Amino acid sequence: MTSPPTTLPAPGSTRVLHRQIHHRLPVAVAAAGMTLTDAAGREYLDASGGAAVSCLGHGHPEVLAAMHAQIDRVAYAHTSFFTTDVAEQLADELVRTAPAGISHAYFVSGGSEAVEAALKMARQYFVEIGQPQRQHFIARQQSYHGNTLGALAVGGNAWRRRQFAPLLIPVTHVSACYEYRGRAEGETAQAYGARLVQELSDAIDALGGENVIAFVAETVGGATAGALTPVPGYLQGVRALCDRHGILLILDEVMCGMGRTGSLHACAQEQVVPDLLVVAKGLGGGYQPIGAVLAQGRIVEAFARGSGLFQHGHTYIGHPVACAAALAVQRFIHRDGLLAQVQRLGHGLRERLVAAFGAHPNVGDIRGRGLFQAIELVQDRATKAPFDPARRLHARIKAQCMERGLMVYPMGGTIDGVRGDHVLLAPPFIATDTDLDRIVERLAQAVQSALAGPA
Ligand SMILES: Cc1ncc(COP(=O)(O)O)c(C=O)c1O
Repeated sequence: MTSPPTTLPAPGSTRVLHRQIHHRLPVAVAAAGMTLTDAAGREYLDASGGAAVSCLGHGHPEVLAAMHAQIDRVAYAHTSFFTTDVAEQLADELVRTAPAGISHAYFVSGGSEAVEAALKMARQYFVEIGQPQRQHFIARQQSYHGNTLGALAVGGNAWRRRQFAPLLIPVTHVSACYEYRGRAEGETAQAYGARLVQELSDAIDALGGENVIAFVAETVGGATAGALTPVPGYLQGVRALCDRHGILLILDEVMCGMGRTGSLHACAQEQVVPDLLVVAKGLGGGYQPIGAVLAQGRIVEAFARGSGLFQHGHTYIGHPVACAAALAVQRFIHRDGLLAQVQRLGHGLRERLVAAFGAHPNVGDIRGRGLFQAIELVQDRATKAPFDPARRLHARIKAQCMERGLMVYPMGGTIDGVRGDHVLLAPPFIATDTDLDRIVERLAQAVQSALAGPA
């Protein structure tokens, strides 16, 4: 009997179901500081922290030492039997540095899990306080909140949602705060923000304010939209609107949080305090998988007065080694003054991007905050027309960057899940000015080569 024809790699070459089945990936064999090295000895300068994860760079000796010490002490203890000192200390640290009123941290193993937990926490809160009729979430188009079903449902990226749509809970999506494309000619940023708040208000009225659980938004839009910063006053308007209707505000800072924009929490720069703040990625800096929901005291109090539990849980919540890694990462961010460094380097990165791309005919927008910056590519600057998605410009830029030993985080579908290309940069907070020079120089060459390729 002959085997059926297959397009899969020859047996033995890989048994990992990678993200792209036909794509050959380099094998990472070493990582230190700003650099990863592959099995062929090629070095890659990490200008994106993977996916905005590696805030302290790679192989930080003190983080590794903290993890080793924790492994030797208690590598794992199930949270239905025990707590650990390290989980308690991490929660204390996160509450100490959290926005006003946050009283507790709920630990999970990543961003999607944290979003799922936040959605359930919000729903349970209203059940506990006698408002079980609240059943709806409102979120934004072009947002990314993760790939599990609840997170995908609140997410607004059309391409990611499409084939799973029949499985997703109904969620109302309002416009993203996307100034480059959304603000009308002659409209001020404030007026644009007010218009978006009005759109949200209309969406709330259509559902009935008393039926809405929460509005979910990334403080600074990340993976699928490319560092979309809120216009002044927009999130404050959102906060006031939520308060008027007793709706919770869930801010997803999985990507933009934990120092990436130059303040520990991105919402601090908007003077907005959420009811639930979702963090991950930079929380553990990639040293361990960890995410958290930081919850306002009144939500936890409602649970305490009511059922006495949050009806949720996973096997690895509060994992001691993950907590040890995150505690170390957070302590070094504060000890080494890295938030101020992010602000300084962020300005430097922006200046370099403006110098390289400010007059580029195919770069329509340069945006972001701190070490979270993006360029949006356009076929025509005047009309803002994007490139034909079939050209997959974002993928070509990524390939050209990798050829030059540079990791960046490009994505297509910036505008509506299909059209548009952007490149996101999120280098580690330990970058130097020389690193920034190299990053922008190599990116500029890669963009040129990608544009010069076949149309
Ligand atoms: C804003 C945001 N939320 C949630 C997630 C999902 O996080 P994870 O991939 O750790 O599940 C991401 C991942 O990119 C994200 O950027």
